[in-house]
Amino acid sequence: MTEKAEKQDGKTVSTRRQLLKQFGLGVAAAGVTPRLLGNARSATPPKKKRRKVKHRVLGKTGLRVSEIGFGGHSWSYKRVPDGKGGLRKPTIDEAVRMIAAGIEMGVNFFDSCTPLEESGTPGEALKKLGARDKVIVSIRVSHKMKGRKADKQEIYKWTEQRLKLWRTDYIDLCLLCNTENDTPQSGYWDMSYSTEALDKLKQQGKIRFTGFGCHFTPELFLESFEKFGDYFDVVSMPYNVRHRAAKKLLPAAKKKGLGVITIKPFARGALLKKLDLEGADAGLPRDMIAFVLEDKLVDICTCGVHTIEQVRENLSASWTKLSPSGRERLKKVAATPIDSREYAWLEQDWQCA
Ligand SMILES: NC(=O)c1ccc[n+]([C@@H]2O[C@H](COP(=O)([O-])OP(=O)(O)OC[C@H]3O[C@@H](n4cnc5c(N)ncnc54)[C@H](OP(=O)(O)O)[C@@H]3O)[C@@H](O)[C@H]2O)c1
Repeated sequence: MTEKAEKQDGKTVSTRRQLLKQFGLGVAAAGVTPRLLGNARSATPPKKKRRKVKHRVLGKTGLRVSEIGFGGHSWSYKRVPDGKGGLRKPTIDEAVRMIAAGIEMGVNFFDSCTPLEESGTPGEALKKLGARDKVIVSIRVSHKMKGRKADKQEIYKWTEQRLKLWRTDYIDLCLLCNTENDTPQSGYWDMSYSTEALDKLKQQGKIRFTGFGCHFTPELFLESFEKFGDYFDVVSMPYNVRHRAAKKLLPAAKKKGLGVITIKPFARGALLKKLDLEGADAGLPRDMIAFVLEDKLVDICTCGVHTIEQVRENLSASWTKLSPSGRERLKKVAATPIDSREYAWLEQDWQCA
């Protein structure tokens, strides 16, 4: 009997066979009733093709990296409701779920943060997942510049600490970053002494590639591309819908072949504070990352996350094309000043387009 005849002469039988085939149920299941098949359908939905985060080449490192990466700071911050009216850090189990979901969606880039804020959580989660060698770990080490002898020791010290925290014997990218307090003292970006330390770490097989980046002015970045752009492999700088000065710097960075890692797509959440993210503003964080990724000179946008929902939303930026109404919403975010004292430097130096 053909399927067509089955449909005409025995509609129930034909439907059942098709469903059995669709859900992969064997001969043993042939006696199941249509009611049970209904349950089977809801228990085993047809597999959806999962979207993956796209990859880009990270400048002269040649590494293929996910265009969205996990940021390092948020693992250390107490931002998850603890159920008792307070806030806590993400637990290891939560981190394992968030990182497993990210890797499943194609993420392979893990940033760290300034040394004193660094957490062992992502390293421990990667170890539990047996995923260290499938991902790229990028650390940031402080140094004081201006050729102080202590520079090298600082770099060795923080690198050793990170090797332990990330449960690994090598780091893929080591970025020099100094703290706000060091910058006025150092006055300018002199990284010549620090690069000697980085060379030694490379020879020891502890780091693979190097870079630099921190909070400072766009002018200092331009100067540092000129002075040190041939030595380093990557640079990291803030870039978001309101603070877009990086746009002007990227051609100069690319001229030196530097991979570009952007940070602060939400100014650590300050740009989202006045929004109703559950209601009319839903999807804005995703669009804010999609905005950064529209710039093809950006290689990676790193973002901090605290929940698996944030992971899923942020990664979906990789396949989000901004709509005209989405762009209108972004214009409003871009026009809204942030009043955080912590981010006065972003407001002052990084707004110009
Ligand atoms: N000195 C340095 O070297 C340096 C400096 C800055 C940044 N970085 C790097 O850049 C990374 C990113 O910067 P960042 O962590 O400062 O800031 P960010 O990515 O701009 O903001 C992260 C915060 O935004 C909120 N958020 C994220 N996704 C969201 C979503 N879908 N919906 C609502 N809220 C969301 C979360 O805060 P809540 O959940 O608490 O609201 C999260 O902690 C850092 O983690 C670090 O790796 C390095």
